[in-house]
Amino acid sequence: MTDSPVTLITGGGSGIGAAVARRLLDAGQRVAVTGRGEERLRGFADELGHPDGLLTMVGNAADYDEIQSAVDRTLKEYGRLDTVVANAGFATHDTVAEGDPAGWTEMVLTNVLGPALLIRASIDALKETRGRIVLVGSVAGFVHGPGNVYGATKWAVTGLAENTRRQVTEFGVGVTLIAPGRVETPFWDSYGSLPPGHLFTADQIADSVVWAVEQPAGVDVNTVVVRPIGQPN
Ligand SMILES: NC(=O)c1ccc[n+]([C@@H]2O[C@H](COP(=O)([O-])OP(=O)(O)OC[C@H]3O[C@@H](n4cnc5c(N)ncnc54)[C@H](OP(=O)(O)O)[C@@H]3O)[C@@H](O)[C@H]2O)c1
Repeated sequence: MTDSPVTLITGGGSGIGAAVARRLLDAGQRVAVTGRGEERLRGFADELGHPDGLLTMVGNAADYDEIQSAVDRTLKEYGRLDTVVANAGFATHDTVAEGDPAGWTEMVLTNVLGPALLIRASIDALKETRGRIVLVGSVAGFVHGPGNVYGATKWAVTGLAENTRRQVTEFGVGVTLIAPGRVETPFWDSYGSLPPGHLFTADQIADSVVWAVEQPAGVDVNTVVVRPIGQPN
C-alpha cells in the first residue's frame, strides 16, 4: 500500500469523480478527492468506510491557493502523485441569449480555469512519477449546441488538453481528455430532470478513465469521446 500509485481527483465526492475514486481504490491505489461541500465529502467517505487510502479535502478547484494546498497535502500524506483528474465542473444549463449571466463566472472559473490550475499545481510532482493528467471534458466540447455557454467551457477544455499534451509529453507526462455524453449524476439536479434517452452510469464513464490511466508506461491515450447509444449529438 505505501508504494501504490496516488490519484488526486477534483470534485470527487459525487458522480463521475466518485466512481473513478471507487474504481481506483478497488484497484489498490490511494486516492485524494476534493470538493466544495464538506458534507458531500464526508458522506462519500462514510459510504466507503473511511479506508486508509482515501483522503478527502474541502477546496475550490477554481482557487489556486486551495488547489495547490490540495496537491501539497496529497504529497505530504502519500509521498507521491501519479495521476490528477480535473473533474470538478458544472453547468448552468442556460443559453447565451436568454440565460442568467450571474451564474457564468463561477462556471467558467471552475470548468476552464480549474483544470489549468490543477495542471500548474501538480506538474512538478507528475514529472517525478512520469504521471498522467486526465481532463473530464464533454461531448459538448466537440459539438455545437444552440447558445450553450457550458458547451463553450468544454470546448476550452478540449483545447487545454491538447495544448497541455504538446508541452508536457516532453516531460514524460501523459494527457487524456475524456469527453462523455450524458451521464446520470447530480450534474442534472440543477436542470430539474434527467434529459431524455438512455444515459451512462457514472461507473461506465469511470471505466473509460481507469482504462486510460492503466495503460502501460509509454502509452498515452489522448482523446476519448464516448456517448451512450441513442445520443445523436
Ligand atoms: N453528467 C453528465 O451528463 C456529464 C456529461 C459530460 C461531462 N460531464 C462533466 O463531468 C464532470 C463531473 O460531473 P458529474 O456528472 O459527475 O456531476 P456531479 O456529480 O455534480 O460532480 C461534480 C462534482 O464537482 C464538485 N465541484 C463543482 N464545482 C467545484 C469547484 N469549484 N471546486 C471543487 N469541486 C467542485 C461538486 O461538489 P461540490 O458542489 O460539493 O463542490 C461535485 O462533487 C464535470 O466536469 C461535468 O461537466 C458530465
